Amino acid sequence: MPGQSCCSNHASPSRTTHTAVVGLQWGDEGKGKIVDVLTARHDVIVRYNGGANAGHTVVAEGQKYALHLIPSGILYPDKTCVIGNGTVVDPEKVLEEMEKLRSRGIRVDGRNLLISDRAHVVMPWHKDQDAALEEYLSGVTAGQRGSLAIGTTRRGIGPAYSDKVRRSTAIRMRDLLDPAYLRERMHVICRLRTAELEALGVAVAPLDPDAMAARYTEIGQRLAPHVTDTVYFLHDSIAAGRSLLFEGANAALLDIDHGTYPYVTSSNCSALGIPAGTGVPGGNVGRVLGIMKAYSTRVGGGPFPTELLDDTGNRIRERGREYGTTTGRPRRCGWLDLVAVRYSSMLCGATGIACTLFDVLAGFDELKICVAYRRPDGSMTDRFVPDARGLEGYEPVYETLPGWPETALPASDRAALPGNAQAYLARIEQHLGIPIEMVGIGPDRSQTLVRQPAACC
Ligand code: IMP
Repeated sequence: MPGQSCCSNHASPSRTTHTAVVGLQWGDEGKGKIVDVLTARHDVIVRYNGGANAGHTVVAEGQKYALHLIPSGILYPDKTCVIGNGTVVDPEKVLEEMEKLRSRGIRVDGRNLLISDRAHVVMPWHKDQDAALEEYLSGVTAGQRGSLAIGTTRRGIGPAYSDKVRRSTAIRMRDLLDPAYLRERMHVICRLRTAELEALGVAVAPLDPDAMAARYTEIGQRLAPHVTDTVYFLHDSIAAGRSLLFEGANAALLDIDHGTYPYVTSSNCSALGIPAGTGVPGGNVGRVLGIMKAYSTRVGGGPFPTELLDDTGNRIRERGREYGTTTGRPRRCGWLDLVAVRYSSMLCGATGIACTLFDVLAGFDELKICVAYRRPDGSMTDRFVPDARGLEGYEPVYETLPGWPETALPASDRAALPGNAQAYLARIEQHLGIPIEMVGIGPDRSQTLVRQPAACC
């Protein structure tokens, strides 16, 4: 509640607790649903990284919503959603999402959806560059490693962040509100981009800077009510006692600095991205909820030590409906890797865990959990290696746990789960040293077993 502390256990009653929700694996952990559950207890929902490469499917009151850029908090009439400066915004996608929501009676206006004036814009050529580079690299192999393509979502994420870092060819949201400046920049950028795309072997008609400037000026006018200095907005919100919920997109093992490089995305998607991606210092985030599937999945290329290329992997994929929300690609599936999750929890400072898709594991005779790796030289380690080449040849060391039958799962109480299911969760908590606060047992908002941690709300 605005102006109140979250619970009586906090030393300072005037200090509101702000929460972060981050994926602890390679994405698609079901963060959307957990964010949706937590939204009820927060006032402002903030995206800090990534772009339309993320995909959230939320089921609320039997209705399914697929969102890519707009936080799912938009489904609540009294919340403010913020797309922070650390994101890359495809403005046409945002407008499309806004229209879809409005057509279903959801309110979206300049008061409940704010976009940072400093967020970088994903332009059409970024998507062309992304696809062209992936096509080019898929034909290039390196030794045993196969294709050098990253397996991106082709949403233009890497090229847009590259431009952000390059600066001279970048466009920010605020630039869309300044037609003369935008046209000036388009003249330089379109010339360069045409040449670069041609060099990648893409037959493109030369990009027309005036047409592009006109198109994006019009888009800017439509988005203008939403574009603002979100850093001041967030600090004003904190000062007013409003509670913030930071919603991570993608996941910690895809973090540009700390993930399985180079098979990562182009932003800091671990909790470490929050300060830079929003302008809110990390010390303000009192609670970090790490989201972890009860097993592992990954899309695109890159190392995946517990991957199952057999019938068990197929069974998990079908039971978990493991096909991408954004691209429809089948996801690679495998057993839960606690070496990886312990690393990402450490990185994010996770204070609690939400274990999602737990119902998918029912009906297996036995289940495996990876608790260490065997290195190529035969030695053992419980440390993750955030580097694709560094992880080569690492084999998972498993513990085997008994499964539980497919029975109706309890609607509210974790203690009513089958004994082996409780033991599986207890083993995870013991290995990570972090409490599991939520267990997802189905796609609906209501199908979440919640256990309040002792020290915080
Ligand atoms: P990009 O973010 O489109 O550049 O893709 C880089 C890598 O991150 C690819 O392996 C993608 O499949 C992966 N990736 C990006 N976003 C997500 C996500 O939200 N879930 C799962 N994988 C993702």
